[in-house]
Amino acid sequence: MEEITLIAICTFGLEAVVKRELQALGFDNLKASDGKVEFQARLDDIPKANLWLRSADRVLLKMGQFRAVTFDELFEGTKALPWGDWITEDGKFTVTGSAVKSTLGSVRACQAIVKKAVVESLKAKYNTEWFEETGPEFTIKVAMRKDVALLTIDTSGSGLNRRGYRVQAGQAALKETMASALVQLSFWNKERLLIDPFCGSGTILIEAAMLARNMAPGLNREFASEEWPSIHPKAWKVARRKARLAIQPSGGLQIFGYDIDPVVIDASLRNAKKAGVGEDITFKQKDVKELWIDKPYGIVISNPPYGVKLGDFQELNQIYISLHKTFRKKKGWSIYMLTADKKFPDYFKRAKPDRVRKLFNGPLEVNYYQYYGERPPRDQDAKDKV
Ligand SMILES: C[S@@+](CC[C@H](N)C(=O)[O-])C[C@H]1O[C@@H](n2cnc3c(N)ncnc32)[C@H](O)[C@@H]1O
Repeated sequence: MEEITLIAICTFGLEAVVKRELQALGFDNLKASDGKVEFQARLDDIPKANLWLRSADRVLLKMGQFRAVTFDELFEGTKALPWGDWITEDGKFTVTGSAVKSTLGSVRACQAIVKKAVVESLKAKYNTEWFEETGPEFTIKVAMRKDVALLTIDTSGSGLNRRGYRVQAGQAALKETMASALVQLSFWNKERLLIDPFCGSGTILIEAAMLARNMAPGLNREFASEEWPSIHPKAWKVARRKARLAIQPSGGLQIFGYDIDPVVIDASLRNAKKAGVGEDITFKQKDVKELWIDKPYGIVISNPPYGVKLGDFQELNQIYISLHKTFRKKKGWSIYMLTADKKFPDYFKRAKPDRVRKLFNGPLEVNYYQYYGERPPRDQDAKDKV
């Protein structure tokens, strides 16, 4: 079967998580760079990667990469690529773009040139002058970086964070891809107790439960490339059937979510149910100041509220202090907190974080503070994985 090159794109800082996910899916020869992981695949790996990747934003099909400092070079280089192998005669193709440190710095001009070049290439292939563009969707991206053009087609359609389970989002809901990465960057495994004391619409816990039960996150949604005739519908059917069979039964998970706001707790319950993990998580409305823990060796993964208004800071500090008081004397608890508030470690007075990871929550720079607790006596799995 024909070899293709795919690129899983992700938020900056999550490349190592995506790389590990790809390795677990059986891909090797992975090349990670800023915000992307490139890998060799076969055609029927397009369904597999889209269905299973948890922390990547999209899966792109790499069409080509070449140096271009003039519009002529961009045009000729693009035209020479085999667009007709993928884009159907009735295909609807749009061009998106980006440019970083490149002579061809106008994204709009690059998009227009690429569109023109693709049209020329398709004219030759289909021997026609006019394209209706009423058929399957092909989103082409031209990414100019340091005078090198990278041309891709998006196989995913809407972003992979759209799993299809979010009935309702809280005000500051995390992206599902980021939530899954936070879980994967922690020591949590399905034997251990997990709590999110600021669970909002439940994203972190739902992603954890899906991971524990080996549920493919894309099983309940569609992808742009499902409409492409170059990928046989059977490949999608087989990948979906395998994913359905891989799901582990419910039971035995100890996952708990709390939030002060009853409206978001209601949203959590509904989202978890829609995701198929309603029985795996217990959600309760609770102020963190009333949180009481009696078990050892648990894990907290959360993103507390950020102080956006000046008056909020005092309240926030109280929240951090309560959190510290709840866990300080409990044996073996590990705490993982994602926040934009750089004052967090000052108020959450549990020594120094063992690790601080810089990540991006959308455009917002955030830190993932990691405090490692003592491991449970028989937990052989817990190790820093990335
Ligand atoms: C950044 S949001 C969490 C979003 C969540 N990760 C999601 O994906 O939906 C912070 C949450 O903290 C909650 N919160 C604020 N003060 C709280 C308190 N004192 N105790 C518990 N929850 C609180 C808010 O209601 C909000 O849902």
